[in-house]
Amino acid sequence: MTRGDWRTPKAPSRPALSQAAWSKILDKREARLAMAQTENQTGSQSQNAGFSGSMAFILAASGSAVGLGNIWKFPYVTGENGGGAFVLFYLMCILALGAPLMFAEIFIGKRGKAGPVDSFKNLGTKAAARAHPVGYIFILTAFVALSVYGVIGGWAVYYTSLALDNGFDGMTPEAASGTFGTLMDDFATMVLFQILFMAAITYVVAKGVSTGIERYTTILMPLFFMMLLGLTAYALTTSGAGMRSVSFMFNPDFTKLTPSAMAEALGHAFFSLSLGVGGMLVYGQYMPSSPSATPITRSVATIVVVDTLVALCAGLLIFSVIFGHGGEAAGGPGLLFMSLPVAFGEMTGGYYVAVLWFALVVVAALTSGISYLEIIVAHADRLGMGRAKAAVSLGVAITSVGFATVWSLGPGKDVIIFAGKNLFDTLDFFAFGVSLPLGGLVIAITVGWAVRREEYRAYLSELGEGTFNKVVFLTKYVTPVLIIMIMAYLIKTS
Ligand code: PFF
Repeated sequence: MTRGDWRTPKAPSRPALSQAAWSKILDKREARLAMAQTENQTGSQSQNAGFSGSMAFILAASGSAVGLGNIWKFPYVTGENGGGAFVLFYLMCILALGAPLMFAEIFIGKRGKAGPVDSFKNLGTKAAARAHPVGYIFILTAFVALSVYGVIGGWAVYYTSLALDNGFDGMTPEAASGTFGTLMDDFATMVLFQILFMAAITYVVAKGVSTGIERYTTILMPLFFMMLLGLTAYALTTSGAGMRSVSFMFNPDFTKLTPSAMAEALGHAFFSLSLGVGGMLVYGQYMPSSPSATPITRSVATIVVVDTLVALCAGLLIFSVIFGHGGEAAGGPGLLFMSLPVAFGEMTGGYYVAVLWFALVVVAALTSGISYLEIIVAHADRLGMGRAKAAVSLGVAITSVGFATVWSLGPGKDVIIFAGKNLFDTLDFFAFGVSLPLGGLVIAITVGWAVRREEYRAYLSELGEGTFNKVVFLTKYVTPVLIIMIMAYLIKTS
């Protein structure tokens, strides 16, 4: 491929069109396209073809973004990387890279309307169409990522059942790590809870977009926000360590901001916002068609703010509970499953807090898992497989691959697969460390360099000219350069 292919194609020789004129032309074309699509669908599919409006899209996309990344991973990586400075850098990544990339990814879905692969072919230029093979990387990554995500979702279900059983009452730190360690070595229990979790996701995706995903996310997400706000307020005010937690999260000590912490912050921003794997692309395709309906800009602003606030709330909550009970911030991946239960076991009202908390984790994980599965089902459905059949067979296949993950956490822990890593760490490295940045890179290059600028402008029409130019600049230059730096760093240090 020559370099010139990636350049923005020359403007056609007709006179330049105003932005309003472009929007009109695009609106009409989209309306025709939508009609043609509806005509091609059978009754039940057309009912399921998309979200009913802005609110449904925002809740589903927030459901995708808010997940284990926010409540499990963000607090523990913040704890490991020293708190405030990491949080500040993470917020910068979200603003400078995450938001522009989310514009770009949703644009591809909303404009392309054809799943993670074929949407690239509908962006109006040949150069953009050439990027479509990246869609297969999205599919593969979503498959692998969900096989791991499903296992951790299963832990959350298991811990909810322990909480319901009052299993944390009077738990010592030794007992807590014993419980977690026993779970890691108990193949059957882990698989059982993983299956429960995956069955719920498969059911919702099989039901369809409006009658499945929309219906469940619009119930689950508001419930989630209410529970999280209530719990955070309770923890901050009753733990006796609210202020310490606030200061840990927001008082930056820049000596702790190492290159590896920065790489981690950037990778985590992508993961947390469901970027670089087609999650936002696929939900974008279910937005109402015309560029002016369900504005991308307002939706992105809401999703980014919600996702960030949830991560910050989860951090404040976890650290105030942990500090309040003499625990350490750097508890690592076990922070949620080992340190918290001890604190719950000691605190007043701990039974209810523990049940609510783990239910919250399950809800967040479910709505994100649904989004992972939808990336693959959207493509399978296009190939004529039928949604329900695709969801069930893929759900079963992904769960089965997840068994290998379960094995690698217990008996296969010390079996090295690649570069000194066991299977779990190898999958983690490829699915999160390599694939997400690579996906983000292709999205940024495609939208920044290969899509007509006026066309992109029409989809982001509420942005002022200056802001739009900044978004394009970030997408064209800053995002690709930073992603390449991070990938080089990760590969060098792996
Ligand atoms: N954003 C989710 C989280 O923070 O847990 C993870 C995720 C879900 C990423 C779905 C991508 C995706 F398509």
